Amino acid sequence: PGNGYLRPAGSPVTVIAHRGASSAAPENTLVAQEIGRRAGADFIENDVQPSKDGVPFVLHDGTVDRTTDGTGSIRNLTSAQLKALDAGSWFSPHYTGVRMPTLAEQLADLRTRGGDLLLEIKGAHTRDQVAKIVQVIREQNMTKRVFVQSFEVEALKYTYELAPELPLGLLRSSLDADPVAIAKELHLTAYNPSSGPLLARPGVVADLHNAGVAVMPWTVDSAATWKSLDALGVDGIITNRPAELAGWNNAM
Ligand code: G3P
Ligand code: CA
Repeated sequence: PGNGYLRPAGSPVTVIAHRGASSAAPENTLVAQEIGRRAGADFIENDVQPSKDGVPFVLHDGTVDRTTDGTGSIRNLTSAQLKALDAGSWFSPHYTGVRMPTLAEQLADLRTRGGDLLLEIKGAHTRDQVAKIVQVIREQNMTKRVFVQSFEVEALKYTYELAPELPLGLLRSSLDADPVAIAKELHLTAYNPSSGPLLARPGVVADLHNAGVAVMPWTVDSAATWKSLDALGVDGIITNRPAELAGWNNAM
C-alpha cells in the first residue's frame, strides 16, 4: 500500500507542533493545541499516559511536578485528582486555571476545530492500557486523523494488533544499524529519529523512502537545521516553533 505521509517532491514539509505550540503556551494543553493549529501546524504532537483509574491523559513527564501545581506520579493519581490540578500557571499567570486534558478531550477538540494528532504513547504500557487508547480514538471517530508514535516497541506492537489501520512511527534517540529492517518488522509508516543522529547519517532518509517509510525527526527549532533536513527530503519536522516553521515553509 502507498504511504500518504511521504512528501511529494517540491511540497513543503509537514509541520508538527511539539506538545502543541509549546514555546507560546503551556505544553500539552488545549490552548497550546489551538495556538499550534492556528499557526498552521498539520499535526499536534502530544504525550499520552494513563491515570491511576486507567484514563489516558495528556502529559509528558512521569510526574505532574514540573507542569502543574501538584506532585506525584500520574499513574498514582486518579482522573479526578488530575483534573483538579492547575496545568497553566507554571508557564505564566496568564494561563492560571488551564487543565490537563484527557486524550478524549483533546481528540474532540481537534475533531471539531480541525487538525490531526501525532499521538505519542509515553512510557511502558500494558496491552490493556494501549487498548484503552485505541478505544478512545475509535469513540472519538478519529482513526483517520491520528498517527501513533512511541519509543516503546511493545506499545507499537500492541497498537498494530489492536488497530492495524492506525499509522505507526518509531521514535529513536539514536539510529538503528538497519532502520529499514526494524521498520518492516514493526509495520512502520514512519521512522522518527532525533535530528542530530539523522544529520550524521543522511543516507538513511533515502533508504527509508525507498522502502516506503516516512521520516519525521524531532525536535528542531532552528531555521538552519530545518534547511538541512529539508534538503535531506524528510517528510515532517517536529518543532516547538510551528508558526515559524510554517512561515519558513511558505517562504520557500
Ligand atoms: O515527538 C518526539 C519527541 O516528542 C520525543 O521526545 O521527550 O519530547 O517526548 P519527548
Ligand atoms: Ca513527545
